[in-house]
Amino acid sequence: MCFILDVEICQKPESALSNEEIRAMVENIILLVPKIHINEIYNNTSSWWDDMMIRHVYSITCSCDDLEKETVYMKDCSGVRTFVYRLTDEEAGTETMQCDSEELPVASHWILPCREFEGLWENLCYSPGVKENLYNFVETSMMFSDKNVNPNIISWNKVVLLHGPPGTGKTSLCKALAQKATIRLSKRFNRGELIEINSHSLFSKWFSESGKLVMKLFSEIKRLLEDPQAFICVLIDEVESLAHARKSSMNGTEPSDSIRVVNALLTQLDQIKSYKNVLILTTSNITEAIDLAFVDRADIKQYIGNPIENTIWLIYLTCLRELMRVGIIKSIDDQKLREQLNSNSLISLSCGLSGRALRKIPFLTQALHIKTNSEYDPKDFIDAMKKVVINYKKDELDGK
Ligand SMILES: Nc1ncnc2c1ncn2[C@@H]1O[C@H](COP(=O)(O)OP(=O)(O)OP(=O)(O)O)[C@@H](O)[C@H]1O
Ligand SMILES: [Mg+2]
Repeated sequence: MCFILDVEICQKPESALSNEEIRAMVENIILLVPKIHINEIYNNTSSWWDDMMIRHVYSITCSCDDLEKETVYMKDCSGVRTFVYRLTDEEAGTETMQCDSEELPVASHWILPCREFEGLWENLCYSPGVKENLYNFVETSMMFSDKNVNPNIISWNKVVLLHGPPGTGKTSLCKALAQKATIRLSKRFNRGELIEINSHSLFSKWFSESGKLVMKLFSEIKRLLEDPQAFICVLIDEVESLAHARKSSMNGTEPSDSIRVVNALLTQLDQIKSYKNVLILTTSNITEAIDLAFVDRADIKQYIGNPIENTIWLIYLTCLRELMRVGIIKSIDDQKLREQLNSNSLISLSCGLSGRALRKIPFLTQALHIKTNSEYDPKDFIDAMKKVVINYKKDELDGK
């Protein structure tokens, strides 16, 4: 029955209160709120925000240890854990390097937590436990490093591999995880950084300078890792391009040097794993094609598949709420909206679509079926969504 509430508090940039002051202010208020919706992003439109909160707090997001709960009653709360953070407005920087007289974009670089990834974690829907297990993996990994657990006795590689079909949110989940971990670990690190290595430009084509490029990129990453106050996440998206490079070099279609580049990358990854403040995130959508040497290095290999019915329902619910918020469909009570989604065959019809496809359906519905600019009835909108889903699936089949 009892639960511990985790409260993430995003402080406004102009607020001059200390973390402790913010923490005390929010705790005092939240303990008096009757019920809290898990994963909802609360802001100054909430009825319980007072003037002080409006002045200093940008948003609040809550979660709890009971993964099945959507709503919690604060009378059952046995404790509150708070995490105070501020967002940076900076956009991603692009690291480029000169290679065979071409300027290659080799990596993107974010300072975390950043506005671009705000709410990303909360809006990714999976079966209960998927996101939480990933987060617990990161926390345990940092705890083992902090306690100086001997890696020769217990091995952990600080490598996460997410694999599965296209459009299931793997890349987004890596970015969201980096942001979430930065917020949750803010007592230990004063900032996070995410470096997304562009494996396409590094491995899709052989450059005589590729080896040097990998070394240069990693010496830059090692420089960042030297600051123990920074939490550094390295994202290698679509790692299968590494395997391609190795295979084509074995087939003799590319210079055998390219195998050395892949090996250089693996060696560099092994080296950075000795740092306490690193997390390596990787994704792939062709599991069989991932370099075996790479798969072996991952501690967590999580399959991310297409959404199941409950998840589809949740994705559509958030989409419809958003359309209500902006006044594209008529506002109705949340309970009513849920009932309408339940009573419609839209959910079962949508099985097999990726998360990416599901998020497009409302837009396509408005564009193709809603001919009026006035607020539409949610029930009619849901009916129109069905037609779009049927056509979308037909087009997908025709395309195969
Ligand atoms: N389970 C999900 N819940 C909510 N949104 C999702 C889900 N899966 C995908 N999306 C949305 O789909 C879009 C595409 O996600 P993303 O690019 O991260 O997928 P991916 O698995 O990396 O795809 P690819 O394999 O093609 O690179 C994002 O906008 C994301 O929010
Ligand atoms: Mg991706």
